[in-house]
Amino acid sequence: MYRSLKSLATLTYPRFATYPTSPSFPASPVSAKSAALWLLILSFIFTYSVHAAEPFPKIGRRATLSEIASWDIDVRADFRGLPSGSGSVTQGEKLWESKCASCHGAFGESPAVFPPLIGGTTQADIERGRVAGLTAATENAKTTIMKLATVSTLWDYIRRAMPFDAPKSLSVDEVYAVSAYLLNLADIVPADFILTEKNIAQVQARMPNRHGVSTQHGMLDIAGKPDVSSIACMKDCPVNPASLVVLPSTVNGLNGNLAEQNRNYGSLRGIDTSRHK
Ligand code: HEC
Repeated sequence: MYRSLKSLATLTYPRFATYPTSPSFPASPVSAKSAALWLLILSFIFTYSVHAAEPFPKIGRRATLSEIASWDIDVRADFRGLPSGSGSVTQGEKLWESKCASCHGAFGESPAVFPPLIGGTTQADIERGRVAGLTAATENAKTTIMKLATVSTLWDYIRRAMPFDAPKSLSVDEVYAVSAYLLNLADIVPADFILTEKNIAQVQARMPNRHGVSTQHGMLDIAGKPDVSSIACMKDCPVNPASLVVLPSTVNGLNGNLAEQNRNYGSLRGIDTSRHK
């Protein structure tokens, strides 16, 4: 997403993007008539390229680059997209107590709102990079830290979604700090640790389940191959009617004509936009 949004930004700004390559002028002396013809063609290309990119003129407006940037916050497993900053376990502990513990417990152990975040991993797991408890018959709780393969996901998720009741309210340094605190609770980093963009790769090398995720298998096997490696049909594809989900004809019209049931009130749908010119 990090990259695709950037390229989207270029795509949606035709004025700044390159126009279709104009055919070069003939090298021989240009007659006034043929020059006029070329001008006509070029102006057509220009007009067309601007209008072609605006399929719904007068509806909404293009997102600005800064608007796109504020949504473009994903952090990849290779740490692309990770902003620089730092936060210590100690700072994280304070934040945790005021902003996270009420739901997740003082040590990330509470099953109250979500399965526990921390617990169920050992030093041996940290060394191996596989969490034994995930497959052990005796272990039935699966905490977040047991399953998590990439520390970037922890960082990214906290930044975009937590605290649950005030998402995106933490500063970058605060995200580093609470992440450091959770990592310390799981004995991945020591109590005096300060997590930064520079040492996060070393933390990754200690994630208990870092080797627990693979792309070698899919959800399903198709002809002996994982479904993710089958060849996708992108054009004129045969459709298996049996696999389509359709409403049985007996329920059609049971609740009136759905197409006529737009709400005519509310902030999102049905508002009279003709009032806002
Ligand atoms: C109001 C309750 C609440 C508060 C406060 C809260 N969380 Fe959460 N947290 C949740 C819930 C609910 C989920 C599950 C959300 C979901 O799956 O959509 C969750 C999920 C998570 C997860 C992901 C677990 C997983 O395995 O997917 C992490 C990590 C997390 N919270 C960290 C934090 C941090 C850090 C804070 C404080 C900055 C915090 N939470 C504050 C309720 C809360």
